[in-house]
Amino acid sequence: MEPEDMTDRTPPPPILVFAGSAREDSFNKQLARLAADRIEALGGEPTFIDLRDYPMPLYDGDLEAESGLPENALALRRLLAEHQGLLIASPEYNGFITPLLKNTIDWLTRPHEGDSGLKLFQGRIAAVVSASPGGLGGIRSLALIRQLLGNIGVTVLPDQLAVARAKEAFDDDGSLASDGQQQKLDAICGRLIDTLDRLGDRGPRA
Ligand SMILES: Cc1cc2nc3c(=O)[nH]c(=O)nc-3n(C[C@H](O)[C@H](O)[C@H](O)COP(=O)(O)O)c2cc1C
Repeated sequence: MEPEDMTDRTPPPPILVFAGSAREDSFNKQLARLAADRIEALGGEPTFIDLRDYPMPLYDGDLEAESGLPENALALRRLLAEHQGLLIASPEYNGFITPLLKNTIDWLTRPHEGDSGLKLFQGRIAAVVSASPGGLGGIRSLALIRQLLGNIGVTVLPDQLAVARAKEAFDDDGSLASDGQQQKLDAICGRLIDTLDRLGDRGPRA
């Protein structure tokens, strides 16, 4: 067999990883960071971002008409354009996704100087996970973030993980205490990388 020619290998798929919580000790940020580590270990190219670093006002059409998109929305759009995959850790508030996650996505989908925000999302592939101190792990928010992402043209992989009783769910090294959950997270990250690899398109999106 010929030795593998490294120069011919497709570059690893870039995947943008974030949580819908700004909280310093957020369980969902912890889960997102862990997912980013696992994506890297499994051959993907993750970029973990903290939405606390991208504060934006609550969406307001008058504000948009006066000032356009916030600088941080434009910065996130540029990042999104460079990443074909998304991994989102979605906290659950009253059975719903968080206002932070919804507001961030709403700003990103707005048109700007002739660029459609929606086009930026179309054709992207996403995986979704959640964590909650409660017994259901935030699973209800996953149904809603799926629906929202589907509405804006993102294909969401069927596999998902909801980490219940999050206060006890992580080991000191940041991994999941349950082998089963850790394996499930690995399977999700692996499936996301594999799906992006099969699609093969690494080009930036306008
Ligand atoms: C307004 C509000 C509503 C909440 N509703 C739910 C809920 O419906 N289900 C749930 O599992 N946890 C609920 N929680 C608890 C959150 O899961 C918990 O605060 C969690 O730590 C938030 O995610 P984070 O750790 O990533 O910030 C709620 C918290 C807040 C502040």
